[in-house]
Amino acid sequence: MTTEGISGTTAEHGPAAVHEQDVVRVSDLRKEYGDTVALNGVSLEIGAGEAVAVMGPSGCGKSTLLNMIAGLDRPSAGRVRVHGEDLGAMNETGLALFRRRRIGMIFQFFNLIDDLTTIDNVALAAQLTGTPARQARRRALELLDELGIADRRNVYPAALSGGERQRAAVARALMNRPALLLADEPTGALDSHAGEQVMDLLIDLNELGQTLLLVTHDQILATRCASRLVVMADGRITGERTLERSA
Ligand SMILES: Nc1ncnc2c1ncn2[C@@H]1O[C@H](COP(=O)(O)OP(=O)(O)O)[C@@H](O)[C@H]1O
Ligand SMILES: [Mg+2]
Repeated sequence: MTTEGISGTTAEHGPAAVHEQDVVRVSDLRKEYGDTVALNGVSLEIGAGEAVAVMGPSGCGKSTLLNMIAGLDRPSAGRVRVHGEDLGAMNETGLALFRRRRIGMIFQFFNLIDDLTTIDNVALAAQLTGTPARQARRRALELLDELGIADRRNVYPAALSGGERQRAAVARALMNRPALLLADEPTGALDSHAGEQVMDLLIDLNELGQTLLLVTHDQILATRCASRLVVMADGRITGERTLERSA
């Protein structure tokens, strides 16, 4: 598998980012769901090119934090800036556009569309931002090739192995050269071999300059992929340390 052609994933910087080195700036973030306090005052900065892993027990607020940074949900209080843009200032249309252009997301259960082929799943991400279909398919094929699954382009997700599905999801996430790649338990549904391959892929991408925020409760994954570890408990950040990558 080669990822050389994927370089340039962070090449496209908007004017707002010129004055701001951090890709993510989260300050005093709170999120309540009814009586549940999912985030209880979280502040986090992620610099361009960093790979940050968030760890912590189930229910401590990891996915909520990622969803706030992705603009999938709105905080109860606090501020989220990504790529120099204040998410709180955006309306729903603006947020949807922001997500499509700036954020790539990978989930535990892949979230591929069952009745689209692999290549159409990947190409769709660019078509949603207005890229013509032919051009989108060309880039999708390039990415599938670089991720080693070009030969699977015309099959439906049901025919893919778990590892292949997650690579297709990574290809989809990279289609629009996102400023930030978010991964929520990306190896959680994979066997250890497929998990390792996805992990290596994330490391390669980060080494090519892709800023990465990864949620996992796998300590090995965290220490292999990330340059910084953030530990959460009960909706707060309780510890942080820089890692020497062991890969
Ligand atoms: N959409 C939601 N509605 C109600 N409660 C939620 C919702 N999302 C998360 N929660 C609650 O917020 C807390 C944090 O959840 P989550 O961020 O998913 O934790 P983690 O990803 O660390 O396991 C949990 O108590 C969870 O039940
Ligand atoms: Mg979660």
